[in-house]
Amino acid sequence: MPVSLIPKSRRHFLQTGALASLGALTVSAGSNDSWYALLADTHIDANPEKDARGTNMAANLKQVVAEILAEKTAPDFVVVNGDCAYNTGLKEDYTTLRSLIQPLLDAGIPIHLTMGNHDDRGPFYTLFPDAVAGAKELEGKHLAVVETPHANWVFLDTLDIVNKVTGRLGNGQLEWLSRTLDQVGDKPILMMGHHNLQYPKEGSTATVTGLADTVEFMEVLSSKPQVKAYFYGHTHSYAFSKSRSGFHLINQPPVAYLFNESRPNGWIKASVSAENLSLTLNCIKKDHELHGEKTSLPLA
Ligand SMILES: [Fe+2]
Repeated sequence: MPVSLIPKSRRHFLQTGALASLGALTVSAGSNDSWYALLADTHIDANPEKDARGTNMAANLKQVVAEILAEKTAPDFVVVNGDCAYNTGLKEDYTTLRSLIQPLLDAGIPIHLTMGNHDDRGPFYTLFPDAVAGAKELEGKHLAVVETPHANWVFLDTLDIVNKVTGRLGNGQLEWLSRTLDQVGDKPILMMGHHNLQYPKEGSTATVTGLADTVEFMEVLSSKPQVKAYFYGHTHSYAFSKSRSGFHLINQPPVAYLFNESRPNGWIKASVSAENLSLTLNCIKKDHELHGEKTSLPLA
């Protein structure tokens, strides 16, 4: 469920164009210096002192927010790609989250949040009443498209059941996605959703930990060559790969704890040109060997 928090100072950028008729949100800001701060898996608990796996999640998010605000220019937007809350998406978790991201809103920076399996829509809405209502509601899913100069960003909703690991888009969302991608034009499409792709294994009875309807998702995308990338979180393990049809798969690092201590946590600074998607990893630990790693992915 992407929820878009647009500071009052930026609301004049909202337009009512073709995308708006899809129930999508259009933000037509942007310049040559445009960049985007990509976060995932913040796992904020009500108690800002809470630690998990040796990590204080609130301290990590506080650090990331400060780093974003310390950049020379403000990002066009910040995204938190799911698992915003610690475990079950309590109202109190979102109260703490809200206070931690408030400095970004105070600085006039829009924030888009998607829902992961550790989020809960009801309590989330209570704490974010200023979420833009333009997001299309469809079978309990909330979807958005954000237009930027060189790409259209599509925020998907993969939350199925709160605190159950499996993700699912569902038929309604897949139909919406197919229609939407046909109507948004030829710019490269950059998609974000919380869960990773996972193809079914024949005969396996193991719980699906990724996106249960990956096959159906890929079927929709097979006729949409403008789709260039899918960003996801969930695994807490920064990585790059490609889908079977050849678009980029970017596994965002968690802001919060790691399942494998050797992997980096942190956030990605992204910029988009007509030719490339440029990504810079900002690690929580500045002495991590991957801190500052730059990755350039072709969009052509
Ligand atoms: Fe997570």
